[in-house]
Amino acid sequence: MNTEEKYKKYVNTSFLKAVEPVVVERASGSKYIDPSGTEYLDLFSGISVVNSGHGNREVVEAAKAQLDKLLHCCSYIYYNMPMADLAEVIARITPGDLQKSFFANSGAEAIEGAMRLAKQYTGKFEFISLTHSFHGRSLATLSVTGNASRKKGGGPYIPGVAFAPAPYHYRSPFGQKDAKMTAKFCALAVEDVIRFHTSNRVAAFIVEPVMGEGGIIVPPPEYFEELVPILEKHEIVMIADEVQSGFCRTGKMFASEHYGLEPEIMTLAKGIANGLPLSAFTAVEEVADSFTPGDHLSTFGGNPVSCAAALANIAFMEREKLADQAARKGERVMENLRTLSSNKVTVGEIRGKGLMIGIELVKDEQTKEPAAQECAAIRRMALERKVLLGLGGSFGNVLRIQPPLTITDSELDHVVEIIQECLNSL
Ligand SMILES: Cc1ncc(COP(=O)(O)O)c(C=O)c1O
Repeated sequence: MNTEEKYKKYVNTSFLKAVEPVVVERASGSKYIDPSGTEYLDLFSGISVVNSGHGNREVVEAAKAQLDKLLHCCSYIYYNMPMADLAEVIARITPGDLQKSFFANSGAEAIEGAMRLAKQYTGKFEFISLTHSFHGRSLATLSVTGNASRKKGGGPYIPGVAFAPAPYHYRSPFGQKDAKMTAKFCALAVEDVIRFHTSNRVAAFIVEPVMGEGGIIVPPPEYFEELVPILEKHEIVMIADEVQSGFCRTGKMFASEHYGLEPEIMTLAKGIANGLPLSAFTAVEEVADSFTPGDHLSTFGGNPVSCAAALANIAFMEREKLADQAARKGERVMENLRTLSSNKVTVGEIRGKGLMIGIELVKDEQTKEPAAQECAAIRRMALERKVLLGLGGSFGNVLRIQPPLTITDSELDHVVEIIQECLNSL
């Protein structure tokens, strides 16, 4: 049986239909390589994970060296050096006074922990999240995910969750006139959500500073300017979910920095260790200390090999100024993407920050009917041309460009050419 047949017979994945017919044997830089040696250009980084490039030598060597020393001890029963060092580094590189981290294994696990911490700190138990949001596939994280297509079949979900409108200007529920107005109305709507959709016992507002799975939604700055005082007034903790937007992806170490946000809790995963499983929630000291001994633990959380890899990864990001690289490459490729044209489909909007970029395709400029099938067709055609694009958006009509941040300008130019070629072939 070959790998594809074994997947079909033995792997339980609801994504089977979506699994690309590409067997990845090795990877290097921005390329995946299959067993026959064919190279594919990776524009999705294993869902926004491998920010420092596939096979990054510094990360790999750090992990190998740690493997020879200590693989596991349960980092919550005994102290280990890489986890302590990483906690210190995270306190330094995150915005505001975020200081104490808890390490876990996946984004969902970090968000579950962050929600629990917010409850413990505030003594309240409700949550507000955004429409179009995505926070994971565990029960609590699906409960705060604002997208029915991700939630189907998994309910009933936890009570005490309300949703506020996402500041998604292209599909603004408040009209298209002015992005600033969208931002203001969406933030002010939070007051109404608190008053009419909760019992005013809201522990936390959970927000992706740049929204990923919802289709790369970049809130206008006015959104957070209006929102933060509302949260302060109601003593609601902000959980910034930087699982996807963190670690240089948007042109800053964390997307929160674009808005001057200083959340009380921040969640981290994906890009933290360049592919080794690791996640964290980090909090300001007063909030973090509301956990009492014995409250929270994760057997594999803070694995020393993952932490050693994360330390090398962050050192690489800082030395290579990966955030600046992402900002510059992102600006350049977005400018080029804005020249895309098609007579079969409308390029509704090109948006993003750094190398977190979405191309929203619609059937009609006025109605904005999502062109999901066309998006899937373009992705398929690009794959035939050995270019692997991401796909997402609440309506499945956003092509996503989230490559390793080490990608070259000429590789990005090639991507624009291939997308144009695919648009022409629709
Ligand atoms: C913003 C955000 N939060 C949480 C998650 C869940 O992370 P994981 O798949 O590691 O549980 C994701 C995954 O895509 C995400 O994009």
